[in-house]
Amino acid sequence: MAKTLIAYFSRADENYFAGAMRYVKVGNTPADTFKIEMETPYSPVYMTCIDEAKKDLRAKARPALVSMPDSIDEYDTIVLAYPNYWGTMPMAVFTFLEAFDFTGKTILPLCTNEGSGMGSSERDIKRTCPGATVKSGLPITGSNAADSMSSVKRWLSANGLL
Ligand SMILES: Cc1cc2nc3c(=O)[nH]c(=O)nc-3n(C[C@H](O)[C@H](O)[C@H](O)COP(=O)(O)O)c2cc1C
Repeated sequence: MAKTLIAYFSRADENYFAGAMRYVKVGNTPADTFKIEMETPYSPVYMTCIDEAKKDLRAKARPALVSMPDSIDEYDTIVLAYPNYWGTMPMAVFTFLEAFDFTGKTILPLCTNEGSGMGSSERDIKRTCPGATVKSGLPITGSNAADSMSSVKRWLSANGLL
């Protein structure tokens, strides 16, 4: 049976843009969720976090995660939700993607942002997961995330998940 995993990265704490996307809910479709969480999280202070994330991007860092799913074999679709950090995904999302073989799986990227849209994240996911089908992503304005349910539903629906 087709099964969906929602994997997401989100940072609480101080947020200059008041972005509020925490995770997506897939209506009535049963889905497991996995939080991509760094062992050493970025600073709760926004400007410090910005610097730390930029350093990680420049260093092509792969921050260690608190945990990993044992396997993603049972999932055929992965909804991957993350904020735009410096034009792409947080490096921790790369850590997650590089840990598994996504061959034959479908990835639906959802990127919250404050103006940069998906950035290069779709391209970066395709490069990191060469065997996966990467669908056209959904950019969401983070500070308006609470009002984005209808576009999230439309996008999930268009991809056969609702
Ligand atoms: C380290 C960092 C870098 C960011 N870089 C960008 C960026 O390049 N472009 C953009 O539009 N928004 C950028 N943002 C804003 C976030 O993408 C936006 O606030 C997002 O909704 C945060 O999601 P979260 O609250 O779920 O963590 C950045 C935020 C942080 C903390």
